[in-house]
Amino acid sequence: MTLEEKLGQLAQYGGAGTRIDPKHRAWIREGRVGSFLSVYGAALTRELQTIAVEESRLGIPLLFAYDVIHGFRTTFPVPLAEAASFSPELAGEAARVAAIEAAAAGIHWTFAPMVDVARDARWGRVVEGAGEDPYLGAVMAAARVRGFQGRDVAAPDALLACAKHFAAYGAAEGGRDYNTADISEATLRDVYLPPFRAAVDAGVASFMSSFNEIAGVPSTANRRLLTAILRGEWQFDGLVVSDWSSVGELVAHGFAGDRAHAGRLALAAGTDIDMASGIYGADLIADARAGRLSAAVIDRAVRRVLRAKERAGLFDDPYRHSDAERERRVTLTTAHREAARRVARESIVLLGNRGGLLPLSPAISTLAVIGPLADDREASLGPWSMRGEPKDAVTVLDGIRRALPRARVLYQRGVPVEGKDPAGLAAAVRLARRAEVVVLVVGESHRMSGEARSRSSIALPGEQAELARRVIAANPRTAVLLMNGRPLAIPELAAAAPALVETWFLGVETGNAVADVLFAAHNPSGKLPVSFPAATGQAPTYYNHKSTGRPAVATEEWSSKYFDAPIEPVFPFGHGLSYTRFDYRDLRVSPAEVDASGTAVVEFELANVGDRAGLEVAQLYARDPVGSTTRPVQELKGFARVALAPRERRRVRIELPAAMFAFYGEDGRRAVEPGEIRVQVGSSSSDIRLRGAFHIVGPRTPAPDRVLFSAARADEIGGAGGDKAGGTGGSAVVGAQRRQ
Ligand code: NOJ
Repeated sequence: MTLEEKLGQLAQYGGAGTRIDPKHRAWIREGRVGSFLSVYGAALTRELQTIAVEESRLGIPLLFAYDVIHGFRTTFPVPLAEAASFSPELAGEAARVAAIEAAAAGIHWTFAPMVDVARDARWGRVVEGAGEDPYLGAVMAAARVRGFQGRDVAAPDALLACAKHFAAYGAAEGGRDYNTADISEATLRDVYLPPFRAAVDAGVASFMSSFNEIAGVPSTANRRLLTAILRGEWQFDGLVVSDWSSVGELVAHGFAGDRAHAGRLALAAGTDIDMASGIYGADLIADARAGRLSAAVIDRAVRRVLRAKERAGLFDDPYRHSDAERERRVTLTTAHREAARRVARESIVLLGNRGGLLPLSPAISTLAVIGPLADDREASLGPWSMRGEPKDAVTVLDGIRRALPRARVLYQRGVPVEGKDPAGLAAAVRLARRAEVVVLVVGESHRMSGEARSRSSIALPGEQAELARRVIAANPRTAVLLMNGRPLAIPELAAAAPALVETWFLGVETGNAVADVLFAAHNPSGKLPVSFPAATGQAPTYYNHKSTGRPAVATEEWSSKYFDAPIEPVFPFGHGLSYTRFDYRDLRVSPAEVDASGTAVVEFELANVGDRAGLEVAQLYARDPVGSTTRPVQELKGFARVALAPRERRRVRIELPAAMFAFYGEDGRRAVEPGEIRVQVGSSSSDIRLRGAFHIVGPRTPAPDRVLFSAARADEIGGAGGDKAGGTGGSAVVGAQRRQ
């Protein structure tokens, strides 16, 4: 390969959907393009691939990348919503469907999953990940990677996945996108890196560097992150791509003096592909010729790009992903829509249900649907819907009308999502008074979360709080639905709403999934993957915080709290109600002592004590009360999704390898320490029903830097028996965290 051809493989350019810049056709022919992003469609990708394969000197196929974030044409719930299902199976299924559709449209590579832990609700990109918890984040990261890549990443319906944004992008100061992350090594290792590590263990094909710097070093030129940790410690042998123009941005960071300098730093640090800066493909040629850039560094990156193309099967058949007939056949199929509806209804979280307003009776004769988001197709799809088309979306209003074909379902917008326009308020209140029941839909538009969508206030925008106050006053039989891509600070609404349902952005099947839950065709089981603070000023809010020397006590003035706001969130991590009730009892933790290589077993009984079938996500938290460095007050270490018929009981068993309690110490090593581990089991991080403990004994023992998952099962012990949704054999399992 010539130097130009090598650097061409490292250059990635952006397209505009079904068009590209005309000069890029010539560049493909000259071997100056290795990959494109945001170019799709079987026809165009095939045409461009033909130029690369038939008309360039070496005939190396192109890679086509795309942000397939939550579905392709069949838009699934946003990733944050899917995390609320606590179901790796469903998240994996959603990724699989996305891969099938995208691959047929010529895409080889998705820039997903986004696995950034997000603790600050002001940050708009909370919507793209699995929320605030590293354990749930790791479970979801692995599931999504496996879903996108399938059993064989070279199969014509598989995508190369990309774990992004490496690393600590979610730790942006002030929740402001692209901002500096100034975090300790321990926080980086114990909180932000585990989902990335889990993605590597699941076989992820690529990583994307993040926009931010950590301790003065921007990620795109961070040799320690991209080479020492990723390749050295984790043995990752895939591809690293920069984020959009983040190579060029090294100049703005004040890390590189000019574009060529930026390119040299990024490439040497381990960023193999330059997305959209155009630096590797142009500015580095002179540097390489002048000997300012070693040939070995270039060859290393080129080899990784070619290996990724080989992994995707492109040297066997460069056109395998661009298949117009398959594209027509697999896009937006009934089966894909059904999968989207299943995932959507499992992503819904019942936040509050005072007086049992929900579920609603399907025999209602007059129902008012109110609110600016109730009939907004674009908003229903959510941010990053990319190939999703608003016309495909079933809104909440559509879904309710379909579910109640004989009822009078009337609609008023009330107020807009943002800005002041109270003109529709009075009509909305009049309608609320006339109706038997009101479904009020408020929240954020799809434009308010996602990239560059940080908010300084996470309150309900516009006049919506006033709309809610007046509608609830007019009709106490009001169920409030939230649509949003981040936690919202809504203490008044939470206190006033007779029923409150978190629906996030659920994708094409929004309205059908919402109707399934409202009218009890589906009993809600979602749990919050993020805490909902009482005020924006509480950000960052996360359940797995440190104790401090003065833990917050409401009655203690000199404790770590605010004097003008509560310290607790309104809705904690893991919170989510059901139409039935679950009882936890008889906790056993055994053995009493394990050494660092042992496994503790936590068992308890879970019963459905209501008269409807339901599914509970039973959660296991642990605390290491004394450490050589301080440990969080609680950490999720396992969960089990248990489907129970009315009055059915099951014995849940979760195995906890002691190595799960390893943490990054002051000496820069991960180790398991001797001492007590307190175990809490419950229905949310603050609804703890059972407590126990075991001890880790023996010396402080070094532990490999891996993410370990607990294994969960739920065995029958009597009661009604019968069919178990999701059941396998004698166990209604559940958490499906494979032990690795
Ligand atoms: C910038 C975003 O940070 C990243 O997540 C995305 O994949 C790229 N743009 C490409 O669209």
